[in-house]
Amino acid sequence: MLSVNNITKIFNKKTVNERVALENVSLQMEPGEFITIIGGNGAGKSTLLNCIAGSYLVDEGYILLDGENITFQKEHKRARYIGRLFQDPLKGTAPNMTIEENMALAYMRTAKKPFSIGISKKDRDYIRTRLESLGLGLENRMKTKVGLLSGGQRQAITLLMATMTTPKLLLLDEHTAALDPATAEKVLELTKQIVRENTITTLMITHNIASALDCGNRTLMMEQGKIILDLQGEQRGSMTVEDVLELFRQKSNREFDNDRVLLS
Ligand SMILES: Nc1ncnc2c1ncn2[C@@H]1O[C@H](COP(=O)(O)OP(=O)(O)OP(=O)(O)O)[C@@H](O)[C@H]1O
Ligand SMILES: [Mg+2]
Repeated sequence: MLSVNNITKIFNKKTVNERVALENVSLQMEPGEFITIIGGNGAGKSTLLNCIAGSYLVDEGYILLDGENITFQKEHKRARYIGRLFQDPLKGTAPNMTIEENMALAYMRTAKKPFSIGISKKDRDYIRTRLESLGLGLENRMKTKVGLLSGGQRQAITLLMATMTTPKLLLLDEHTAALDPATAEKVLELTKQIVRENTITTLMITHNIASALDCGNRTLMMEQGKIILDLQGEQRGSMTVEDVLELFRQKSNREFDNDRVLLS
């Protein structure tokens, strides 16, 4: 499925600000796997996702998706089959367009349908059904401009847009971190539901160690540009947050520090 091979990413190469953000990182993902990623600030988590999505090109190594070498493929091309969500709920949607216009655009882009002025009844019914599945009542507000919605509602819509046609890969970069705890929980539940129902291969960065263990089937811990732990199977199943923190201490000789970390 996804095969990341010995990738290295260096920022500001050969300057005093040189920073090795990823060092020789490899990762093999099976189809349908849901991997969570944790790690301290600056560990390289976002850089890893950015390299997979094509926002940054790697300095060394290569990336395959379904056997295709995408290492040098442009970001907009990868965006056709890689869905993405970021921390900022304002990033994924156009505020001056209505809910249904945003959704229709996402649908046309991913389904490679020709762009048409106006939305057909069939498309509108489909969009309504998808919105209903969120359970947020947004199907009754399809003509509302997205800019008027709350951060959580916007993030839920972005999630739907990213998964409108099942992406080969879904990349989530702390997509609930900017939401209040109750809304974050709701969006996380929706994420799990959509990923499960569509068997989407997913990589999710989270600052919340408990949800990292609770979501998906495998958890990676990153530190200083490397994957220092790969937890899965029985070992992961029996792990508590405290066990994870202890493992981090052993592996890195320091305390886990992430300014957004939640230990409960
Ligand atoms: N565009 C950039 N230019 C220069 N340095 C960068 C850039 N992006 C990231 N870095 C550096 O690369 C390292 C890894 O950053 P990255 O954003 O991947 O960390 P992270 O694990 O996502 O951290 P956080 O938990 O704070 O989001 C950091 O030292 C960061 O300062
Ligand atoms: Mg980050």
